[in-house]
Amino acid sequence: MPTARPWTIRRVHAVDAVCIEQLTDVLIDCVEGGASVSFMLPLPRARAQSFWRDVAAGVANGDRALLVAEDALGICGTVQLMLAQPDNQPHRADVAKMLVHRRARRQGLGEALMLCAESLATECGKTLLVLDTVTGGAAERLYARLDWERVGVIPDYALFPDGGLVATTLFYRRVGAPFGDGRGDANSAA
Ligand SMILES: CC(C)(COP(=O)(O)OP(=O)(O)OC[C@H]1O[C@@H](n2cnc3c(N)ncnc32)[C@H](O)[C@@H]1OP(=O)(O)O)[C@@H](O)C(=O)NCCC(=O)NCCS
Repeated sequence: MPTARPWTIRRVHAVDAVCIEQLTDVLIDCVEGGASVSFMLPLPRARAQSFWRDVAAGVANGDRALLVAEDALGICGTVQLMLAQPDNQPHRADVAKMLVHRRARRQGLGEALMLCAESLATECGKTLLVLDTVTGGAAERLYARLDWERVGVIPDYALFPDGGLVATTLFYRRVGAPFGDGRGDANSAA
């Protein structure tokens, strides 16, 4: 019999103050745990809150889709789809800020969030997802396990929160209806 999950995942359409505080907790926990996700240490709470307020604005205007996972303590994981793309890439979204609080890791939540993000992307009419992640990290293993296509590695792409350059690995994944006619592979859409 399958084990009950200690969390539930939902899409947030309106990011309220409580949500911002709990997402701030998750972001700070990840950065303090060494995750290279755009921020350096120390990460002031106000800086993290400001980031999530910007995300809230993007969710409100439809530029982003936000998923959160909640356990008995509140939000324990999150991931976003960057839906707003250039006019010639309406079928694409970027996956961003996949974050799981350290208290909820290694229970399958990262995988569950990504599968929900892929389904949500399809619901939003997207057929191509792109992301990049620290080379050699848990997230890279996760995306490879979920059959994302590894494009390549960019060395010295970013810094770890406490300094030190780290490479990033670029991935893509087709979701929903395949192009089928090869037009997605034929021309650069830069
Ligand atoms: C990357 C990240 C999202 C993964 O989240 P997670 O919830 O731990 O992911 P999962 O539980 O699905 O998988 C993680 C590992 O736990 C294992 N696992 C999953 N369920 C398990 C279970 N029930 N028991 C034991 N292990 C389990 C998986 O096999 C995987 O193992 P691996 O790391 O050896 O490959 C998380 O580590 C994180 O937030 N990191 C910091 C932020 C970050 O780097 N984000 C990525 C930005 S692109």
